[in-house]
Parts: sequence; C-alpha cells; structure tokens
Amino acid sequence: MALKQKVALIAGASGLVGQALTELLLEAPEYREVIILVRKPVERWQHHTGLRQVIVDYEHLEQQRHELQADDIYCCLGTTIRQAKTQENMYRIDVTYPLELARIAREEGATQFLVVSAMGADSHSRVFYSRIKGEMEQQLAQIGYESLSIVRPSLLLGKRREFRLGERTGAILARGLAPLFIGPMNKYKAISAEIVAEGMYRIAQRKPQGTVVYLSNQLQVAARPATR
Ligand SMILES: NC(=O)c1ccc[n+]([C@@H]2O[C@H](COP(=O)([O-])OP(=O)(O)OC[C@H]3O[C@@H](n4cnc5c(N)ncnc54)[C@H](OP(=O)(O)O)[C@@H]3O)[C@@H](O)[C@H]2O)c1
Repeated sequence: MALKQKVALIAGASGLVGQALTELLLEAPEYREVIILVRKPVERWQHHTGLRQVIVDYEHLEQQRHELQADDIYCCLGTTIRQAKTQENMYRIDVTYPLELARIAREEGATQFLVVSAMGADSHSRVFYSRIKGEMEQQLAQIGYESLSIVRPSLLLGKRREFRLGERTGAILARGLAPLFIGPMNKYKAISAEIVAEGMYRIAQRKPQGTVVYLSNQLQVAARPATR
C-alpha cells in the first residue's frame, strides 16, 4: 500500500484504547485521514489536520452512513455494567453498536474491521460479559469483511479519567504477579492500552485474510516492529 492512501475510522476514540489508537494513527504514514466517532468533540484534537471528528448517535447510525466511509474500521467501543446500569444497555453498547457500525461501514465499502473484544469471550459462557463479547465476535464474522481481526486483551493498563476499583486492584495484583505470567500463562498478563493499539495498527497494515483472533500474548508480538 502506497503511503497516505487509506482512511481509518475509529469508534470509541475517546476511550483508553481508542485514544492511544487515535494518537498512533495520526502519525501513521499509511493514512491520509483519520475519522473518529465521538459523542462530544475531543478538544485536544479539534485543530488536528488529517483528523475529522464526527459526532454520532449510535441509536441512529443509519442516518449518518455517509460519514462512515473508510478503508480500515477500528472499533474500541465498550462499557462497564456500572456505567451502563443494566445488562440491556450494556448489550447495546458492546454488541449492537459494533455490529451496526460493521454492517453499515461494510456496505459503504470498508474491507477491514478490527475490534477490541476481551479475554475469555465465548458465546456459551455463563458470565454475561464473556458471553456478549463472544456473541459480538460470532455475529461480526457473518458480515463479510475480507479481513476481520478480533483482539482479546487481558486486563488493560493505562490512565483513566474515572476510577475503576476492580481494574486498579487487578493492575496492582498483576504487577506483583508479573513474574508468574510466563510461557502459556503469558496470555493472562495485563497489557497496556498502547500495546493493544500498536498491535491493532500493525495487524491492519498486514491485513490478514478472513477472521483472526489475537490473544493478549499474540498482541504483544503483533505490536513489535517487523524485523527484516
Ligand atoms: N478494561 C479492561 O481491563 C478490558 C479488558 C479487556 C477488554 N476490554 C474491552 O476493551 C474495549 C475498550 O476498552 P477501554 O477500556 O478502552 O474502554 P473505555 O475507556 O471505557 O472507552 C469506551 C469507549 O466507548 C464509548 N462509549 C461507551 N458508551 C457509549 C455510548 N452509549 N455511545 C457511544 N459511545 C460509547 C466511550 O465514549 P465516551 O467517552 O463518550 O463515554 C469510549 O470512547 C471494551 O470493549 C472493553 O470491554 C477491557
């Protein structure tokens, strides 16, 4: 792919992974434009050339389909049950919105979709969070992308605007237990949002054909620059 040819679109760009990805793609030589879908404008990117902020309402995404024209779609949407308050709301944000985005963007010509799912995603799981992530993955695979990359990070590390007790405790534990996460246990090791973003970006440039799932340890590898 020649330089500055492609357009990237990022959903969930204001989140932990989404922000890291936006910063990265703005500097990436492959993209001439980065479109971010946000609920309200992100001030620090207001005047960035090469970046277009689109204010979206995912409940009415169909009405904004003309804004969803891009080559590579990166989906970093998601919520917590604490924020969503009900399982129904959480399902809409974690499953319905990504699927709706994927469907419309595909119809508008996108050929590659990359999505942040989660470790343990399984449509048969008894755990609601794992089950809906698994469902989202399964349904995405039916949409017909040339390339669908599903990344399943373990606990995410990074600075958040809000305090999340579970994550903070997990991060402290993960740091203490880090020496145990070797060999096959490596996939459980906490991973920084920057590494997830870097991995997604590098995977997108290779554009693997079909549906490929990346566990945390595989993302760590994908994030490394290619060696000659
Ligand atoms: N946290 C972890 O340890 C962990 C581990 C594995 C996988 N994951 C998954 O990784 C993904 C990214 O996680 P993250 O921590 O980067 O997420 P995050 O910081 O919570 O960001 C979520 C993004 O989704 C957007 N969003 C949430 N509700 C929305 C709504 N109703 N309408 C429109 N946009 C909405 C947010 O926009 P606003 O800024 O407008 O709210 C934000 O841009 C999620 O799918 C998550 O489930 C997380």
